[in-house]
Amino acid sequence: MCGITGFTGKVPALPILLKGLESLEYRGYDSAGVTLVTEDALFTQKRKGRLADLESSMDVPSFMQTTGIGHTRWATHGVPSQLNSHPHTNEKETISIVHNGIIENYQSIKEKLIALGYVFQSDTDSEVIVHLLDHYYQGDMMEAIQKTVQQLNGSYAICVVTTDHPDEVYVAKDSSPMVIGHSENGSYCASDIPAILEYTKDVVILEDGQMAKLTPNGVAVFDFAGNALETKVTHIPYDMNAAQKGGYTTFMEKEIYEQPVAIKETMRGIIDHGQIHLPQLDAVDMQKIQYVHFVACGTAYHACLYAQALVQKWLGRIVTCVAASEFRYGNYPVNENTLCVFVTQSGETADTLAALKMSKEKGAQCIAVTNVLGSSISRYADQTLYTSAGPEIAVASTKAFTTQLVLLTLMVFDLAKKEGREIPDGDAILKDLQRMPEIVKEMLEKAPLMDQYAYFLDNQYDAYFIGRQMDYVGVVEGALKLKEISYVHADAYLAGELKHGSIALIEKDTVVVALATEPSVAAKTISNIEETVARGANVILITTQQQDAPGFKNVIRIPDIHPVLATIPVTVLLQLFAYYAAVHKGRDVDKPRNLAKSVTVE
Ligand code: G6P
Repeated sequence: MCGITGFTGKVPALPILLKGLESLEYRGYDSAGVTLVTEDALFTQKRKGRLADLESSMDVPSFMQTTGIGHTRWATHGVPSQLNSHPHTNEKETISIVHNGIIENYQSIKEKLIALGYVFQSDTDSEVIVHLLDHYYQGDMMEAIQKTVQQLNGSYAICVVTTDHPDEVYVAKDSSPMVIGHSENGSYCASDIPAILEYTKDVVILEDGQMAKLTPNGVAVFDFAGNALETKVTHIPYDMNAAQKGGYTTFMEKEIYEQPVAIKETMRGIIDHGQIHLPQLDAVDMQKIQYVHFVACGTAYHACLYAQALVQKWLGRIVTCVAASEFRYGNYPVNENTLCVFVTQSGETADTLAALKMSKEKGAQCIAVTNVLGSSISRYADQTLYTSAGPEIAVASTKAFTTQLVLLTLMVFDLAKKEGREIPDGDAILKDLQRMPEIVKEMLEKAPLMDQYAYFLDNQYDAYFIGRQMDYVGVVEGALKLKEISYVHADAYLAGELKHGSIALIEKDTVVVALATEPSVAAKTISNIEETVARGANVILITTQQQDAPGFKNVIRIPDIHPVLATIPVTVLLQLFAYYAAVHKGRDVDKPRNLAKSVTVE
């Protein structure tokens, strides 16, 4: 999720590169850098920290080079640092590259390159690209790129410059975004539209398996075999502000729609031929572990409830799920026979960090699950697993949550393997997990329906979410999403508990969102729902394809999927429901009142 800019033209490149990076700054980054090119030399400047620091370290007007590339880094391999910042150059300093994405097989490529005598400066996966280019380059950079991309597994958008062709910029992409454009001043490329929108509204959005050559006079697109392709121009009708949101109205909406890609990226490289491997868990000695604790705050805490349910189903260990703010003050068994898993999107939540520090002091094995490489949690934990959701900007967490569910599922699979346990339906679950990006896409197509259902809340102050077993995770997260962004009071109940008190709150037109996706208890949940209907509730029921639901008016059926995974598609529907409810009420969806994205106080 790094930001990339590139330019070659008739005017100085540096201001264009920096301005482009600035327009991508809103997504978050940890370091920034640029390379400017002449036929004599590359000039590379990069540093950890803000773009403004990079800019103030350079006397911008004095750089007259008209070709260059720029980068803001969101770390995935290697902590944020000067050396890990992009661009990366070859030893002779004749080729420079920037990269967005993840090279899954970088370790094996690195070993081969080291054997050939290449010296690595950084811990990044990206650096293999520049050395591969150096290795293959014989005067034709397009040819070197073709050979290089054949070696790469993973996702990438790369941008290359060389002193041999100082008025050319080359790009190639697979599974990471890249756009290019041209104006009378020259040709531009970027990882996202906002970076070039000021110069042209007519852009070429490169497709996977395409590369391009930019010169001051225009752009030419090719496939990876070097065949010239027709350039398909897309006119961007919106302005910079809308472009930063990818054409969506809010960051939250954009992030909801990014979930298929975020889930795919999170699984990338972990499942291989039906086998899961998370090397970060290699050191966990399950034979020693008696207790497993999942600890987190907010939405991440709900992901922990889900993981707890999986451990309960699949592992022979005592497992708890505790809010981080409570964990330190309860007398939970934490010692060298304990595995503690701390889940946090930001990696900076104070309560979660404090709980981790306490657990470490008591000798527990501590694993972090976070979305931000180099975050505080990753520095304290024994091992860290990363969701690859990319920067999440909206305060209400969406893509971070669903990617946490995916990663925690894979983690529990791996722990079960260590215990020597066979997971019931394990193969089927893994297959469904791999289909999840498609399933989530199907759910996103139900947005108009969720929009319509959200109108049920127009004159309501309350909503109730009910479900049993793993559906309880969906109801607590659905209720939280609704209250945090729409300010409608929402409660989550175990469906079977309703009759013990809360049903007293149900009256005519009360909105009840009911989840019944777990076949073993769905019929019982439906009886509970009928009890609310009898009291006048306006019910929205989310259930499976097969479940009988006679007499219900508002029924959404999720695609066929193993029940343990149903929380993921259900969550997407409930995110949309909350989102539209908030929009109808005119709320500031991205910045709800009284809330912060990252809570760094206890
Ligand atoms: C804040 C945010 C929530 C988030 C929680 C935990 O309260 O508003 O959306 O779930 O912090 O954040 P973390 O970064 O630890 O997942």
